[in-house]
Amino acid sequence: SISTTHPLETQRNQMKTITSILSLQKILSSYRGKKRIGLVPTMGAFHDGHLALMRTAKKECDIVIVSLFVNPLQFGPSEDLKRYPRDLARDSKMAESVGVDFLFAPMASAIVPPDLDTTISVSQVTKRWEGAARPAHFAGVATIVAKLFQIIKPDAAYFGQKDYQQTVVIRKMAKDLHFDLMLRIRPTVREDLYSGACGLAKSSRNQFLSLSEKASATVLYRALCHAKKRVDKGEQDCTLLQKEVAAIISLEPDVRPDYIAFCHPETLEPVLKILEKTVLLLAVWIGKVRLIDNIILANAPRHASL
Ligand code: PAF
Repeated sequence: SISTTHPLETQRNQMKTITSILSLQKILSSYRGKKRIGLVPTMGAFHDGHLALMRTAKKECDIVIVSLFVNPLQFGPSEDLKRYPRDLARDSKMAESVGVDFLFAPMASAIVPPDLDTTISVSQVTKRWEGAARPAHFAGVATIVAKLFQIIKPDAAYFGQKDYQQTVVIRKMAKDLHFDLMLRIRPTVREDLYSGACGLAKSSRNQFLSLSEKASATVLYRALCHAKKRVDKGEQDCTLLQKEVAAIISLEPDVRPDYIAFCHPETLEPVLKILEKTVLLLAVWIGKVRLIDNIILANAPRHASL
């Protein structure tokens, strides 16, 4: 919501909205090498999670560009691209309020022309989880993010940890294709105590949930925190932990789990025993809405002397 914006943040310079790739590149060429350029790629429908990425980019970079492009390539045939929330006026105000310099909102035809013949597929880390549930999704994401990196050539790009597998895919794509930039993955922003959905990860999909569904959806974070507490106290058996997480989720009858996966943080292969670093990925359905969330679990080495 806009209400979390600090009043001072409205005092900044005016943000410019740019739709043409060439105009943006022309402007950026005058900054390149002199100013640090930060990119926050988005599909709009901004919430506090997006604003947190923009604020961090603003702190760490001289020039911040937010791209706003509802990417048709990452929607499956049964996923409703038309239903995706779009409100450029609201999004512009929100981005401007946190000091974004340029909002890049290209036409779909400029980014995905009818004769587009090149796509990027990242094979291994997309085999499971969201990649299995949404077959063309990550090729769509990787293709558009590579195009944005190529057009803007940012020094740093900002993504949220909430879409954990997406961050792994983008990191691998950037490494494999030698993109020379820093990837900054920032923590998930969650609903607060007074929201009626405490702990629920902010997501543009939350607006499709009823109030009672939102309350039920808080079970995701409760389940993640349970796993973290158990691991912090020394539990390492992922089969046991998986059963406990499933039992917690089953307490909410309108939440249908899709996967509960303890994985290696980079390969995303399932693990049976908690590693030094393990990621727990969750995906559930609530009605027609699919929600994902995750937490990093750390098997801290135990010292005999402690
Ligand atoms: O996370 C998103 O909003 C999108 O997947 C992204 C990274 C902007 C690519 O379209």
